[in-house]
Amino acid sequence: MTDLTYFIKELPSVKAGLGRVLADAAAACVEISRAIDRGALTGAMGNRGERNVQGEEQKKLDVISNDVFIEYMQRSGLVAGLVSEEMEAPLFLTSKLERNTAEPYLVLFDPLDGSSNVDANISVGTIFSILRCPQDISSLDDESFLQPGAQQVCAGYAMYGSSTMLVLTVGEGVQGFTLDRDTGAFVLTHPDMRIPPDTHEFAINLSNYRFWESPMQNYIDDCLQGKEGRRGRDFNMRWIASMVAEVHRILIRGGIFIYPIDSKNRKQGGRLRLLYEANPMGFIVEQAGGMASTGRHRILDIAPEALHQRIPVVMGSNNEVETLTGYYKR
Ligand code: F6P
Repeated sequence: MTDLTYFIKELPSVKAGLGRVLADAAAACVEISRAIDRGALTGAMGNRGERNVQGEEQKKLDVISNDVFIEYMQRSGLVAGLVSEEMEAPLFLTSKLERNTAEPYLVLFDPLDGSSNVDANISVGTIFSILRCPQDISSLDDESFLQPGAQQVCAGYAMYGSSTMLVLTVGEGVQGFTLDRDTGAFVLTHPDMRIPPDTHEFAINLSNYRFWESPMQNYIDDCLQGKEGRRGRDFNMRWIASMVAEVHRILIRGGIFIYPIDSKNRKQGGRLRLLYEANPMGFIVEQAGGMASTGRHRILDIAPEALHQRIPVVMGSNNEVETLTGYYKR
């Protein structure tokens, strides 16, 4: 069976350097998976009693996962800088770069997405996005990370669910690997993942209904009307409150994932973060034949303005995302 190491070597477009960074990201995810598995045994469950840069309650495992990912990203000597959901400022690694490396990278990541779920033993994940580092590393600064999602060279997520999976793209389709705990290898179990273009399943936090804009309310009203309404068919609903798990389900059987702008999050621009949530997941969804939008624009075209910028997110089955964006155009 093909494992990740073999797969990386075989991909002609993956330069050796990117392959090394990717292998380190995968190894970090194996260690994070182990930390989550053993969390209740090692006292790693629960809150830390502090808030992160986003003002969110930090879990102990948020910090552990962040530390693990940072440690692995320093191993290749090819990563020039890191941005994490858990850190206000980037971490520059230029002093650790391999001398004269021709291909340094920047890595942006969410070490433990959906972490509010972790104490309840519900699926969580790690998301990462890899960008080319500007050639002149002496002028590396916050701005160097503000590249549109279309410029990502690789994006991936690990999902810590009923099994641990790594799903990634280097711009040539989407591949899914399952961790074989006996050997520690990620085995290619889901080659060339494709999102079905049509769906009858939506994922949204319905409790925010009264805060949404009217196009969003109208779209959900029509889904809820089912066969009797304009859509002429019944819809099913899912909400795990863990973007990785939600997008993974959509990669497996289709669906639409929505975190819209609303009157509660309008000041911040939305709920989900552009650089290390929406962009990498958007890249994966598009590579699997789906669509990723804010409701009004393609996510991967957005020129980022800030490291922790938030945006509205609508992604998944192509025809359903197009239907929803139609409500915003009307
Ligand atoms: O990172 C944000 C996140 O945890 C996503 O994974 C998830 O989709 C969302 O927040 C859940 O938000 P809420 O708790 O508002 O439903």
